[in-house]
This record gives sequence, C-alpha cells and structure tokens, in this order.
Amino acid sequence: MEWAELAPGFRIPRIINGMWQVAGGHGAIDLKAALSAMAEHHNAGLVCWDAADIYGPAEELLGGFRRGLAPEELARSVVFTKFVPPPGPMTRSIVEHHIDESLRRMGTDSIDLLQFHWWDYNDPAYLDALDHLDALRAEGKIRHLGLTNFDTERLRLIVDHGIRPVSNQVQCSVLDQRPLSLMAPFCEKNGIALLAYGTLLGGFLSEKYLGADEPARPETHSLQKYLRMIEEWGGWGLFQELLAALGKIAERHSAGTANVAARFALDMPAVAGVIIGARLGISGHIPETLRVPGLALDGADLGAIRSVTERSGDLFALLGDCGGEYR
Ligand SMILES: NC(=O)c1ccc[n+]([C@@H]2O[C@H](COP(=O)([O-])OP(=O)(O)OC[C@H]3O[C@@H](n4cnc5c(N)ncnc54)[C@H](OP(=O)(O)O)[C@@H]3O)[C@@H](O)[C@H]2O)c1
Repeated sequence: MEWAELAPGFRIPRIINGMWQVAGGHGAIDLKAALSAMAEHHNAGLVCWDAADIYGPAEELLGGFRRGLAPEELARSVVFTKFVPPPGPMTRSIVEHHIDESLRRMGTDSIDLLQFHWWDYNDPAYLDALDHLDALRAEGKIRHLGLTNFDTERLRLIVDHGIRPVSNQVQCSVLDQRPLSLMAPFCEKNGIALLAYGTLLGGFLSEKYLGADEPARPETHSLQKYLRMIEEWGGWGLFQELLAALGKIAERHSAGTANVAARFALDMPAVAGVIIGARLGISGHIPETLRVPGLALDGADLGAIRSVTERSGDLFALLGDCGGEYR
C-alpha cells in the first residue's frame, strides 16, 4: 500500500474504500455479508473508509465493524465521513448535533476526517458551519477537517477566512480532469490534498464495457451518474476509444483497465488518494485493487491516453469547476 500524509501525524492509505455503494441504488445490502466484506478489505490492508451522514447505513456499518476489531486493528482503521446538511442556518447546536449523531452511529468519540459539503454558495452560512466544525476540531470531536465538492473560488475564500482544511474530495479521473485547471495548483500551493472519487466512473472504466453498447439504463446510481458525465465529455463512441487505449496500456503492464484508471488519478497533481466504491457483499475487487500500488505509467502510456482525451469536450467549460455538477 502507498501512504500519504494529509497533516503532520495523519497518514492515510492512498486507496480508500468508498461507502456510497451501501446507500441504496447499488443492489440490496446484506448486513452480515457487508461486515464480512469489510473485514476482507481491512485484512488486505484496505483499512480506510469513506462514509457520509447521507449514505444510508454506512456510518452504522462502520460502527458495527469497528466494534468487532481488536485494539491493534482498530488503531490501523481510518474513518472519513461527511457532513452534508440541508440548507439553512448553521448554529453551533445544529452543527454539533449532526456531528454527535455521526459519532454515535460510528461508535467513536472522534472522527479522523470530517468532510463538509454545502449545496448553495448563495447562502454564506457555510462559513458559520466551518467555524463551528473548526471549534469541534479544536475540542477533539473531529481530528481533521476537510471539504467535499468545493470549487477553487470558495476554497480560497475559506482559507482567507482562516480555516485550513486538510483536503477537498472531488470528482477526478482520466475523463474528468477539471481539477487540473484551478483546483490542483491552488491545493499544491496551500498544502491541501485532493481525494478523488469517480476514478472508475462507477465501474465503466473496466474491460466489461469495452465493445459494449451504451446501456439504456445502467444498473446502479453510480453508473447512471457517470453515464451522464461520459455523454457531456464526448459520448459513448469516444469513450470506447478511451477504453481501448486504457486496455492496451493495461495489457502491457499485466494489469486491468481499472488499475490504469486508478493509477492515472493517483498520479494527478495534489491527489493524495483515490476512493474506490465497494458494493460490500455484492461484488469484490480486492486482489485487482492491490495491483495499483505496483503500477507505474510511462510517457508512452500518458501519450496514448492524451491522444483520446484531447478530443473530448471541455468539462470545465461545460460544468464549471469542481463540484459544479451539484449546483
Ligand atoms: N463527495 C461526493 O460527492 C462523492 C460522490 C460520489 C462518490 N463519492 C465517494 O467515492 C466512492 C466511489 O464511488 P463512485 O461512484 O465514484 O464509484 P467508482 O469508485 O468510480 O466505481 C466503483 C465501482 O467500480 C467497479 N470496480 C471497482 N474496482 C474494480 C476493479 N479493480 N476492476 C473492475 N471494476 C472495478 C465496481 O463495480 P461492480 O461493483 O459493478 O463490480 C465498483 O462498484 C463512493 O463510495 C463515495 O465514498 C463521493
């Protein structure tokens, strides 16, 4: 496993298990099978989890899983969650109530990384929320404060306001390279890490879809989300060319298409980690995922990828900076 240091003393594995896939819309979750799949991930060294207060049973699953760990294994386990409040006033008691609920569900007294999402920039209450979250960080309920889906303009505003997030979780992949425009340079300058999601486009970036027809109605919410992204980016035809290019690179490295896609995202500037969604108890990719750390892409590989991506639409112009698709 590769590791990244997000803050002094806060080391995370560069491959993180994503838990949106237990929130519904990705197949029925059997709690027992999910817990056993979590143990398999942990035992394979995939010890870091990305949950959210809005991901259905994710935080409770994490609580149940972690309660069963021996103390030395619990110490290896790293937990990220998100605070995604509905729009409205952000008083200390509202913010603390939500964080206390996450702590209760996860059965812990401190969240390793709390990532804050905000839906509407016209409502400046996000700065109030961040002030309260930063106070909770100083008091210990949150170990490290991060963001998710903030654009560079607001990230700069937050930093100028005096808050220093350690990370911003954004969509970032071989297909969605919007962070390269403004976000990654700003993050590199200010010591903020990017955590990348959508790196496998919900599973589209795999051999399974090479030569396949465009699905009329993809199976999971994640595939539905990223099919819209593929359409914006350049359409199914160009995406097939990308899959073919990635497939050839994968073959050369005795790896899989998904490995090449994950490696590409990991190598993007400012990216500290990739979050790979896990349909716990439904499908498993642990052995393939573990091939990513040993994979290195060379200039010829990157050139082959660029020869396709340079013919795509400009997602930054179409959707705006990071998180623009949510607003
Ligand atoms: N902050 C946000 O707004 C936000 C938004 C979206 C996601 N996220 C985070 O990012 C995580 C990732 O979710 P995502 O939707 O972006 O999905 P993703 O990671 O792009 O794709 C996950 C899917 O890829 C397939 N897969 C995984 N490893 C593979 C391998 N080695 N070979 C072939 N296929 C493989 C699996 O599909 P099968 O199960 O079908 O095999 C898996 O369900 C989420 O769980 C969540 O934690 C955050």
